[in-house]
Amino acid sequence: MTNALAISDLRASVGSIDILKGVDLQVPFGEVHAIMGPNGSGKSTLCHVLTGKSDYSASGSILLDGEELIGTPVDERARKGLLQAFQYPVEVPGVGLEEFMVEVGSARGIPADELERRVAASAETFSMGNFLDRAINDELSGGEKKRSEMFQISVLDPRVVVLDEIDSGLDIDAVRQVAEAVEELRSPEVGILLITHYSRILRYLNTDKVHVMMNGRIVDSGGAELAEELEDGGYEAVRSRLGIDAPRPAAAVVKADPFSDLPFEN
Ligand SMILES: Nc1ncnc2c1ncn2[C@@H]1O[C@H](COP(=O)(O)OP(=O)(O)OP(=O)(O)O)[C@@H](O)[C@H]1O
Ligand SMILES: [Mg+2]
Repeated sequence: MTNALAISDLRASVGSIDILKGVDLQVPFGEVHAIMGPNGSGKSTLCHVLTGKSDYSASGSILLDGEELIGTPVDERARKGLLQAFQYPVEVPGVGLEEFMVEVGSARGIPADELERRVAASAETFSMGNFLDRAINDELSGGEKKRSEMFQISVLDPRVVVLDEIDSGLDIDAVRQVAEAVEELRSPEVGILLITHYSRILRYLNTDKVHVMMNGRIVDSGGAELAEELEDGGYEAVRSRLGIDAPRPAAAVVKADPFSDLPFEN
């Protein structure tokens, strides 16, 4: 099976802080993979480095359907179909969701009539019909924002979908709905990487693989039983099985300027 995403020896740092320390991971087309890991282990950083956020200096290899992404800009990665739903979706007051989708879809080269059809179909699938005239994510509930993120991705013909904590802050029913929405995104042309803290969403999904990230690396991979082990014994159980030491407290915090490649000077 071809890999939608093949990551090898991916390393990333901000200033002198090493965050990703050699990530290896493959997500074949048609599969949904989950990453679980303690706070601060590098999961969101992995998402940002995949999409090309400029705060990080990265090395190693990220292949999207065999094409190298390292060194390419964010927009080129998005055009190739690498799309991310954010842990904290951005609110964009004043920009209507449907007009945004029309702009982005046409920039991506989707013909107008096809785009209109896709917006309507995805709005139906993700129950976003009432939100098309509203500003993007503005005044939406947590669950509505997560659905909106997946709606936007589905319109844009993704190849690799990265969903960062798509189930955080959701009520029990919304978690199930989001899981169903993830299954809607699944297709033989797409590979999906889902970050989560909870095994609950995995019960509603046919997750093909679960990976555990600790201290900037994938330390274990397995089936749904791995998520259950984490639920029962916490990360400590995995650490002691693998002989990994508990993390030491972080020594320094560097704030990044979102508009610059460099961290702020403190
Ligand atoms: N731009 C940055 N500047 C400095 N440190 C950073 C930056 N981005 C991430 N980090 C640090 O890298 C580590 C990993 O952060 P990251 O957000 O990737 O963790 P995470 O696994 O997503 O955690 P959570 O489960 O809490 O969302 C943290 O210690 C964080 O403070
Ligand atoms: Mg995170």
